[in-house]
Amino acid sequence: MSLINKYSTLILVGIIIVLAAVLAGTLIFMYNQPPQPRAFEPLVEIAAQEPDSSKWGLNFPNQYTSFLKTGQNTIDTTYGGSSAFSHLENDPRQVILFAGYGFSKDYNDDRGHEWALTDVRETKRVNETTPGTCYSCKSANNPRLWSEMGMAAYDATPFAELGLQIDQSIGCANCHEAETMRLIVTNPALEEALERQGKDWTQFTRQEMRTVVCANCHVEYYFAGEGKYLTFPWDNGTRAEEIYEYYEDIGFKDWAYPETDAPMLKAQHPEFEMFTADSTHYNAGVSCADCHMPYVRDGAAKYSMHDIHSPLLNPEISCGQCHTNTEDVVRRVNTIQDQVYNTKLATEDAIVDAITAIKLAKANPNSDAALLEEALQLHRQAQFYWDYVSAENSMGFHNPEYVLKLLAESTNLARQAQMKAAQAANDPGLLEIDTYYPEETGAVLP
Ligand code: HEC
Ligand code: HEC
Ligand code: HEC
Ligand code: HEC
Repeated sequence: MSLINKYSTLILVGIIIVLAAVLAGTLIFMYNQPPQPRAFEPLVEIAAQEPDSSKWGLNFPNQYTSFLKTGQNTIDTTYGGSSAFSHLENDPRQVILFAGYGFSKDYNDDRGHEWALTDVRETKRVNETTPGTCYSCKSANNPRLWSEMGMAAYDATPFAELGLQIDQSIGCANCHEAETMRLIVTNPALEEALERQGKDWTQFTRQEMRTVVCANCHVEYYFAGEGKYLTFPWDNGTRAEEIYEYYEDIGFKDWAYPETDAPMLKAQHPEFEMFTADSTHYNAGVSCADCHMPYVRDGAAKYSMHDIHSPLLNPEISCGQCHTNTEDVVRRVNTIQDQVYNTKLATEDAIVDAITAIKLAKANPNSDAALLEEALQLHRQAQFYWDYVSAENSMGFHNPEYVLKLLAESTNLARQAQMKAAQAANDPGLLEIDTYYPEETGAVLP
């Protein structure tokens, strides 16, 4: 073989090696690219704070179509799911616990975002005196109304009157800025509560926003003053104990308990506060959207599932992205929830005992007024901690350790309330009161 031939063979081999390397590199590069979202030109320009989600849907069909499914879900899980079952029928103790308040008449489980507007209009808890504030978490009309009217005027408008301007359930405008599609704080009450804590949400990371955007609505709140101004009670912090302390500081009550006049508080749905109170997942950097809005595929497109519901209905996609053994973690959820549920019932029994004892002590003209007052205060605190767990919609899963601590504290406070009532009336018989078990006695409730 001539020298020239030898060289050209070498060159040829060299070229082949280089080409193979380039090809391999290209393949590795392509393989490692994140899946591209479906390429599209925005079809329509979406106006700022557009209330009508179907208009956004023209640009984002996957998100919109999956979002619409929240109006069709009906499947229940052991403790949650998407039907609006009655908490009062499932657990008649709650009729006693909420006596004298709207929740003793009508208290149904939450369902999908598409239902929010219908459900707030249908609940028996709404009447002529209901303020417009009750629409705050139910409609995509809100961001624009808040900009136009200001939240103070919005809240001061009666529910029925404000309702004339509201025709959309929750929608894209509650979570996204139209121009950029970034996640935003839309509820002025959230922005103000964060500000009072010295926090500026515009500085939050994207992962933080995937949780904070839910705090527009899934939080504890109250209506401040005559104008029923929507306020988050977070000035002392967002744990149950700190929120209770806040209500103590301002002397707030939602209603007075019948016959005893205890100043009661109603907890709302503190999913955000419960989850962020040092739960395992929160501390590991997991967000609400990770479990409730997992990524799904439509052909080449990868998008966040906007069909928000119980993750137990699709644990493979909700939990499977991080946990290899989904069956095992779902079993863990069941164990946690059963334990929380049974502990919660025991706490309810303790509070119902306390209420009965206080009523009897109150009816006794010889009771010591100061001790009775202490008993009322203990009932108030016990019931707030219980309700904080009960009204939170995950049956303890979002933060099992903290939930069990709160229930233990609540039971302890309730038993102390019962003892104080017995002391006040100087009647040890009040310690013997045995809890009312409606399902065993078949008793008909008031
Ligand atoms: C680690 C996963 C995970 C994270 C993170 C998470 N959740 Fe959940 N969530 C669950 C599970 C599991 C349930 C229980 C569902 C059931 O009982 O059917 C649940 C229940 C709920 C429910 C009640 C659902 C129903 O079917 O009634 C709501 C509302 C909710 N979560 C909101 C939130 C919000 C808001 C956040 C963030 C502040 C959050 N979740 C964070 C897993 C998660
Ligand atoms: C309850 C709050 C909420 C509502 C309502 C909502 N989104 Fe989203 N959306 C999110 C979250 C959370 C993400 C994830 C964002 C991220 O990871 O940065 C997201 C992501 C997106 C994205 C980015 C791509 C993707 O899928 O991750 C688009 C586009 C989008 N949403 C469109 C819409 C449209 C259209 C609507 C109305 C039909 C809508 N969203 C309603 C919370 C919401
Ligand atoms: C604009 C207010 C608002 C925002 C923002 C919001 N939610 Fe909701 N959410 C509600 C209301 C109200 C309901 C109950 C609707 C009903 O029962 O009619 C609800 C219901 C739910 C349910 C129960 C669904 C079912 O099928 O049982 C889940 C789960 C949930 N939300 C999770 C989230 C998560 C996660 C986020 C953040 C990504 C979020 N929500 C953001 C107001 C909101
Ligand atoms: C984005 C990732 C992510 C997702 C999604 C996720 N988890 Fe987790 N999970 C974690 C991490 C991280 C831990 C902490 C692991 C550790 O510290 O050992 C954890 C821990 C747990 C634990 C043990 C908690 C404890 O305190 O013992 C359970 C149970 C669990 N996850 C259930 C679930 C369920 C059910 C889902 C779906 C509804 C889910 N997880 C979704 C990341 C995730």
